[in-house]
Amino acid sequence: MHNSFEKRLENLPLIPSLQRAEPVIWFNDQVNNEQSFPFSMAMVYEAEARLKRFAPYLQDAFPEIQDGIIESPIIEVEQMKAYLENAYATKIEGKLLLKCDHALPIAGSVKARGGIYEILKHAESLAIEHGLLSKEDDYRKLHDDRFRQFFQNYKIAVGSTGNLGLSIGIISAKLGFHVTVHMSMDAKEWKKQLLRDLGVTVIEYEADYSEAVKQGRLEAEQDATCHFVDDENSLDLFAGYAVAALRVKAQLEAQNIAVDEEHPLFVYIPCGVGGAPGGISYGLKQLYGQNVHIFFAEPTQSPCMLLGMMTGLHDEIDVAQIGLTNETEADGLAVGRASKFVGAQMETIVSGCYTVKDAFLFESLREMYKREHIFMEPSAHAGFFGLIQLVDTYSQKNANHLVWSTGGNLVPNEWRTHYLQK
Ligand SMILES: Cc1ncc(COP(=O)(O)O)c(C=O)c1O
Repeated sequence: MHNSFEKRLENLPLIPSLQRAEPVIWFNDQVNNEQSFPFSMAMVYEAEARLKRFAPYLQDAFPEIQDGIIESPIIEVEQMKAYLENAYATKIEGKLLLKCDHALPIAGSVKARGGIYEILKHAESLAIEHGLLSKEDDYRKLHDDRFRQFFQNYKIAVGSTGNLGLSIGIISAKLGFHVTVHMSMDAKEWKKQLLRDLGVTVIEYEADYSEAVKQGRLEAEQDATCHFVDDENSLDLFAGYAVAALRVKAQLEAQNIAVDEEHPLFVYIPCGVGGAPGGISYGLKQLYGQNVHIFFAEPTQSPCMLLGMMTGLHDEIDVAQIGLTNETEADGLAVGRASKFVGAQMETIVSGCYTVKDAFLFESLREMYKREHIFMEPSAHAGFFGLIQLVDTYSQKNANHLVWSTGGNLVPNEWRTHYLQK
């Protein structure tokens, strides 16, 4: 371990447990402090308006989306709640709710929100700049061949552990862009094949996510026609993810679920590099303030956000520096170094971060499938462990719990069977 790291780490009581890859929880004592952001809710409302403009296009291009709006329901999972109560000898007061982003249309993961939004925004800017489109037009015209031909003059590049690549690849290929996805070693073969079948160029690395992103960034820097989707720093991705908060608020209101001082909402979100959970959490905090308590969930071998936030080092520390492997079956969460941009924004937003063992992810995967008939990929189960980590906190009578499910719908049958037998 490097000297300056040793200094930073020596007084942190969680470090030995983290190094032993035991599940831990870290509470953030800066939560709800004042902070200024390089970002505002105006940008989130702008994203929501842009997605509405694109709804007719999306409806035409992907007929499976009924109203052209990329959204998932919130449902109550009472059988899963009963399982957790039994298996962990506890009582969960309040509702256990699931935000079903595993069922988001088009890309079947939380990455559909931000990723598709960023590409739509880029396509809109190019088309407007070239006098082909105005914001008042019917956006269905973007589905015409002449637009596909126009977008063929442009490239998109992205680095991914799998799901961001899927969402960027699917929407970019549909619009007509040339798209290259730089996949880390964790990315599953079926995700790469699905993209290749759509005509996407997939480059594979024998290295982790950070390296895949670096190569994608390099490719884009050398080509003025190439737009790089920067999972670590993009404000557009962040805005796309944050739109989820507006939708959650409307959905909870429609279900008469209050979020106020009397009825706090606990939210548990799986975290990789931090973009998706960061954007969602920014939006939720702006809307609900102190009445929402947000926790990020990471694998015991990949606690990059926990480590970055707890030490204040953000992207200047990698999990390898405390001896962890960054090896996990939760491919979407296999990130060793967190986004600096997101980590810094989360300093007053998240209430804490916790870690979870892969074994729990598979236990949860089987139980959800058996009891609720819902399939979610391993990464998407990290949220449920928050209910076990926070056992003392959630005994609060009127609190409700929202577990964010982040992926699963596109997982092929043979992989589902494989996961269910693990
Ligand atoms: C299924 C799943 N859950 C959660 C995440 C975490 O998102 P982020 O890397 O933006 O933190 C990912 C990222 O790829 C994912 O694929």
